[in-house]
This record gives sequence, C-alpha cells and structure tokens, in this order.
Amino acid sequence: MTCSPLEIITRKRDGGELSQSQIDVMIEGFLSGGIPDYQMSAFAMAIYIRGMCLEETMHLTKAMLDSGTVLNWSGEETTVSKHSTGGVGDKVSLILVPLLATCGVRVPKLSGRGLGPTGGTLDKLESIPGFRTDLSISEILDIQESVGCCITGATDDIAPADKRLYALRDATATVSSIPLITSSILSKKLAENPDHLILDVKVGSGAFMKDQASAEALAECLVKTGTHMGVPTDCVLTGMDQPLGRCVGNLLEVHESIEALSGDGEARLMETVEHLAADILVSTGICVSHGVAVDKLRENIFNGMASSKFADMVSAQGGDLSLLPPRGEDVKLTAKSSGYVTQIDAAKAGWALIALGGGRERKSDSIDHTVGLELTKRVGDQISAGEDWAKIYLSCDEQRNIRALKLLSSAISIQEAPVETLPIIIDTIRSTQS
Ligand code: URA
Repeated sequence: MTCSPLEIITRKRDGGELSQSQIDVMIEGFLSGGIPDYQMSAFAMAIYIRGMCLEETMHLTKAMLDSGTVLNWSGEETTVSKHSTGGVGDKVSLILVPLLATCGVRVPKLSGRGLGPTGGTLDKLESIPGFRTDLSISEILDIQESVGCCITGATDDIAPADKRLYALRDATATVSSIPLITSSILSKKLAENPDHLILDVKVGSGAFMKDQASAEALAECLVKTGTHMGVPTDCVLTGMDQPLGRCVGNLLEVHESIEALSGDGEARLMETVEHLAADILVSTGICVSHGVAVDKLRENIFNGMASSKFADMVSAQGGDLSLLPPRGEDVKLTAKSSGYVTQIDAAKAGWALIALGGGRERKSDSIDHTVGLELTKRVGDQISAGEDWAKIYLSCDEQRNIRALKLLSSAISIQEAPVETLPIIIDTIRSTQS
C-alpha cells in the first residue's frame, strides 16, 4: 500500500512498523525535493523516539544505499572494508589499510573528516603535501588495480541521501539514534561493495558512545543489519578513555603511522590494528587462525612491505612523502605529584587539539595540520613529580597555546596507589553469532 509522507510519519510516530516501499517514498521524496526538510525532520524525530526493528533498519539502509552508486569490482580478489565510529588519536586506518593490502585483499576505504573532539582520517592524510582525498570513482577503481588500497572521501554519488539526512539530523538533535546511525554508516560502507566488513566501535570519554551498554547495542545493530544485508560484518568494541597511540594531531599522527608501519608502533595501537586486521584475514579465509594472521601481519611490517604499500598508496593519490614537514616546536608538560597515572582524559585531549586549531568545532572551520600533542606517559604508568608526561606542538597563536595548555593539564589524574589498566579490546561481536 502506498502512503503519503504525512501518513508514513504518523505511522512511525505512533510506533508502527514501516515497509520498504514506505521508507523508499520518504528517502526518494526527500532527495528529489518533493519532501521538505520539516517533514523529513519530523520523520527523523519519530524514528529517534520510536526506534526501528531490524527489518526497518535494513529497509532504511537499502533506501540510502540505493540513492547513489555502488562500486563495481571485477576479478577474483576479496574486497574488505573497515569503519571506526571515531576517537581521539585514532589513526588505525592509516596503518590497517596498507597492511591489509599487503595480504592480498583489496581495501577501498571511504573516510570522513573530524568534527568535535574526534579526528578525521582525511584531515590526517591531507598533512601530506599533494595528497588527494577527492578521488573520482574511476580513479578509485584504477588505484585498486595498481596498488590494492586507497583512502579517500565519499564522492557525491555515494549514498547522497545520507549526506542530506545527516545534515538535518545534526540540526534537529536526532544524531544519537541507533537505527539512524546504523543506516548512515552502513549505507556508505555497503556502497564500497565489500565481501567483508569490520567495524571499530569506540567506547569512552573520547568517543561517540560513552558507555559500554550503548556501544554494545549499536554494535549488535550494525552486525545484524550488515550481515542480513549480505555482507558478513564483525564489530570490535575498543576503549577510548585515553587517546589511542602516542600522538593526537594530523601531521603528528601521519608520522606516528609511518613509524608504526616500520615496526615502531605503540602497544595498544598495534593491538587494535592487529585485532581488526586478523579478524578480517580469518573471516575471509585468507588465514586459518588469529595467531597465523597476526604472524603474517607482523612479518609484512618487519619485511618492509607495509611501509612500501603506504608509500605507493600516497604517491598514487598525488602525495609526496619526501615533502612531509618534520614535527614542529614543542613544550613539555610535567607532573605536579608522584604516583601512578589513573587517567588521561581522551575528550580533554581532543578539545586541546581543537583549542590549538588542529580540529574543528564547526564543519566550516579550517585546520592547522602541524599542531598537536604527544603523550610520553599512559594510564597505569608510574610518574614522579616534575617528570614529563606530554608535549604540546605549538600553534603560532599564543592564545590558542594557552587554552590548549590549560585543557591538557586538566586531562591527567595521578594517585599514589598502582592502578589496573583496562584492556583496549573490550569485546568482539561476530556475524557468525547474529
Ligand atoms: N557516523 C556516521 O557516518 N553517521 C552517523 O550517523 C554517526 C556517525
């Protein structure tokens, strides 16, 4: 039965279930201009309040996916994709994408920009002089043939309905809804047409999902929706109470990723990369076990294949690593007391980067790629009064430096007794369980 937009909104408002054709009416009408923003906002709010069952979430994902292009792969190679809900210091994609490509899978990664305290992969890569994040679909396909991986922004033809709906959700307090987040993420990921998908749902102060229960609920929905739509989808919950890795800041994170690809990665960062990558290698049948997969990943780092794949990807996307600026001038932050580090608040570190000008408060803000932070201590470490625990790579604007210094200084907590550190990998939810 076809219904008018008003009838469909009413049905959802009253807790009814919507069919594929009813959801198509809303998405197609919104994109063609037949459904105005005020009706679509009411629809988003009805979904936010009433929720959606699995079937409806799949219908919404399909409608948004079908609003644009789906990449079309030829040949026998396995195509995989990864997505993170975003965190502070999260440079996993920069390491994982070329590393997986060295294992013979195709990795066409469509990424986004940072907003608020979490960073964006495209902003990090744009610290590399010449690096292009606006590849056309035919360029993506060509680079997959020649290199096997790329990291670029979603083109206007990928899930255009999501782009428009997300802007509306942002302005109508309807972002944090599990079916809306699920359909938004999956419509873009399924457009990459992967054979397998791995999702990193971050949990903690520096993440979209602040507590484990809401992260688990989102992860379950993502895994079920992706898998029932034909793409085996696994989800890993990872900790985001302290920044990931050593650095927070665009250029600094590129340097850190290059070091990690050469074998000098920080332990929790590498544990995350290896866990996600090994899951893909086992799920796609490339490796027989997690242990075999981790050995293969480490071998491809230590034999130089991973860093050379990264260099090939950068140069295929127009970047020149020989022109990468070195780290700039820094000031050190020292501990006021002795004891053990109990917290380095990821959200405060993310806001300190924004204060320096290295992140965005509003979508239209421009960013300074060179500024950032480097942590020399982590949660659980012993520290003495007067000892360094972080460095700030400074902005040219003194006021920015003062704000960042104040924010970062308030991010650390120290206590006398030793503390137990939480594992970085909290849980893994697999498609095989859904
Ligand atoms: N990331 C997305 O791509 N969409 C959402 O709705 C939330 C986070």
